[in-house]
Amino acid sequence: MTVLSARGLHKYYRVDHRRITVLNDVSLTVGGGEFLVIAGLSGSGKTTLLSILSGLDRPDSGSVVIQDVDITHLSEDRLAPFRNRVFGFVFQAFHLVPSLTALENVMFPAELDGRPSARQEARELLERVGLGERQDNLPHQLSGGEKQRVAICRALVNRPQIVFADEPTGNLDSRNGGLILDLLLEFQRERRSTLVLVTHNAHIAARADRTVTMIDGCLQAEEA
Ligand SMILES: Nc1ncnc2c1ncn2[C@@H]1O[C@H](COP(=O)(O)OP(=O)(O)O)[C@@H](O)[C@H]1O
Ligand SMILES: [Mg+2]
Repeated sequence: MTVLSARGLHKYYRVDHRRITVLNDVSLTVGGGEFLVIAGLSGSGKTTLLSILSGLDRPDSGSVVIQDVDITHLSEDRLAPFRNRVFGFVFQAFHLVPSLTALENVMFPAELDGRPSARQEARELLERVGLGERQDNLPHQLSGGEKQRVAICRALVNRPQIVFADEPTGNLDSRNGGLILDLLLEFQRERRSTLVLVTHNAHIAARADRTVTMIDGCLQAEEA
């Protein structure tokens, strides 16, 4: 079953009156329950592709269809709640809100979605990742690995169908990076959700169900 289908994506940036092609006719389908890795060198367009697949950015042409909805044509008013309910996000630099505690950061997407059980669910997730005692800490009181565990809880609190992760272990040492990947995979299998993860780490790519590679804005043909 396909959960995400992208067709003919193009993205250009204009720099000093020159047009740079960052995505060149990228098409991709992602299956339900799949762990897909998007690999490729720095500057090849991985972050741009992930941002467009997840509705954080829009292509100049092409479509991204999720649950029969072409998200590239949704207004931001309709896209934002869709994104918050259907997707979870994990970034390399954590992107926690510095003035909110760990618990408040995790609760945030659930409160946006108007779910009264948010606090309880956020607590349970933090306990599950070993941060039960740290829920009232602010992000600056946490290590990088702890911050990323909080970010994973925040990504999962709305039980998203698809989790998008952009170099989620890029700022962590190998031990903490391994723990983060284990957690993402544990939740993905348990919930039968889909994980789309950008990395240039070969050890992580080796654990994927399937790897596609970006080269200069083109997606290398998927293997059959
Ligand atoms: N806002 C922007 N304006 C101009 N160029 C950009 C912008 N964002 C990304 N780029 C360029 O697009 C290319 C791909 O960037 P990116 O998607 O971040 O690649 P990756 O994540 O694989 O390192 C790079 O050449 C980068 O410089
Ligand atoms: Mg990137």
